[in-house]
Amino acid sequence: MSDVLARPDLSRTHDDDAHWWRQAAVYQIYPRSFADADGDGLGDLRGIRDRVPYLQGLGVDAVWMSPFYPSALADGGYDVDDYRDVDPRLGTLADFDELVAALHEAGIRVVIDIVPNHTSDRHEWFQEALTSPRGSAARARYVFRDGLGPDGTEPPADWTSAFGGPAWEPVGDGQWYLHYFATEQPDLNWDNREVRDDFLRTLRFWSDRGVDGFRIDVAHGLAKRLDDELPDQATLDALPRDGAHPLWDRDEVHEIYAEWRGVFDEYSPPRTAVAEAWVESHRRPRYASVEGLGQAFNFDLLEAPFDAAEFRRIVDANLALAAASGSSTTWVLSNHDVVRHATRYGLPEPTVPGEKHGAAWLLSGGATPVLDRERGLRRARAATLFVLGLPGSAYLYQGEELGLPEVADIPASQRQDPAYFRNPGVDIGRDGCRVPLPWTADGASFGFGTDGAHLPQPAWFGDFAADAQDEDPASTLSLYRRALGLRRDLRAAEELEWVPTAGPDVVHFRRPGGWEVVANFGTRPAALPEGTELVASGELADGVLPAETAVWLRR
Ligand code: GLC
Repeated sequence: MSDVLARPDLSRTHDDDAHWWRQAAVYQIYPRSFADADGDGLGDLRGIRDRVPYLQGLGVDAVWMSPFYPSALADGGYDVDDYRDVDPRLGTLADFDELVAALHEAGIRVVIDIVPNHTSDRHEWFQEALTSPRGSAARARYVFRDGLGPDGTEPPADWTSAFGGPAWEPVGDGQWYLHYFATEQPDLNWDNREVRDDFLRTLRFWSDRGVDGFRIDVAHGLAKRLDDELPDQATLDALPRDGAHPLWDRDEVHEIYAEWRGVFDEYSPPRTAVAEAWVESHRRPRYASVEGLGQAFNFDLLEAPFDAAEFRRIVDANLALAAASGSSTTWVLSNHDVVRHATRYGLPEPTVPGEKHGAAWLLSGGATPVLDRERGLRRARAATLFVLGLPGSAYLYQGEELGLPEVADIPASQRQDPAYFRNPGVDIGRDGCRVPLPWTADGASFGFGTDGAHLPQPAWFGDFAADAQDEDPASTLSLYRRALGLRRDLRAAEELEWVPTAGPDVVHFRRPGGWEVVANFGTRPAALPEGTELVASGELADGVLPAETAVWLRR
């Protein structure tokens, strides 16, 4: 018995070009850590351009670039000084145009990050707000409040920032501003028409420069409703996130995205967008709707254990959710905010509910002997091959194609992430997945640049270098290339049919055209179904699918 799932609603048909994103493999570039052409230790746009042949050879359909805008890097570039420019350390607008042209020439689309929940504190608007009086138009672009107590020296509420520490900061005249993230990231007031118009202008600015799509940072946070009396943090935490929460996932946020959709549809093909929206899964389709952003991240696999039943449940749930919005789903195993999956899968599962994966190991600087690196990589390769076989788009994070592990032992003096500094001893932060890539097994900064790297690369990074893997057919890089190449030919319809398996640890599905994906999540070998092997995450023995291994077959 098998059941057929996820027949997408394609009633709103554009030409094929307009649908490029539905099953795209999108490669996330964290620009400051990708490739450094000018040798200052920070990756840059020319560095990316030099690697376009690598990206083309990898077989990705699009790149998503994390912020490259002018920034003091208080939060890795998610603190934006100017939304319509390039950080001079990373290049110029002319470099950006050249990069887009080179990527397009190579058949690769370009997605960029838009950070609308907050600006940086160096943004000209915020600077103006600081020198303007309470009640001014300049302050109305942000979320300013009078402090409590006789002189306003107490914060308006006891709210905690996402990175730890207080979420309200005083400006010295009795007023405070809200920063849900770092102090350097003041939240914008999206009730303000000027704020709305300015982002429409930004979307057009980049669309006019040929950008194909946008990744929307903290998409569920823009609409806020702050009454005169603010709830305390405990009350906020207890309130349901059902569309009426004061801060998160409010229904009216979609009015903003409906306006954005109007801009996207001014272009041909329409510009696309994907929401970073940490919302309850049943509310995800609103972000992914064709009247809104069009697609939303599903982070379910990123949070799941390496487990057959969990993977299957998550696939079913997300294909159904995507079908409900007429969108396609998005598979993510790693990104710039989480422990890399090659490491995650080699660590024991968190034992305390809500504990961050890898937290204990990271906090020990990798000193606790719990990591099984070989197993982590074996499972990561299997999980990736499984995911690349699914309908929907796959978002890959730079370095995962090298099987790159997390770096745990970055000295405190070289750490950068505000999550580390604002939450001492509790959160080690995200620097460990943002260490500049190893391109060559030797040489200064392993080929990242001509000199140093802005986050320290460990000596073992050379073992994972792209050049060391380039010609090795068994390497992780070769596995990604082969799978991505085949995926281009194989992804026809967005359908999936489960095939029954002999045991609970094996998951097997069929795609149209006789393409089958089988993954053994268990610790014992399983029987290998019949078919011609297209690609496997590990070496197959005769008729046997080894433990923690996936394969694509053709029948
Ligand atoms: C998103 C980004 C993260 C950033 C935060 C604040 O979650 O992915 O890197 O720190 O937003 O902008």
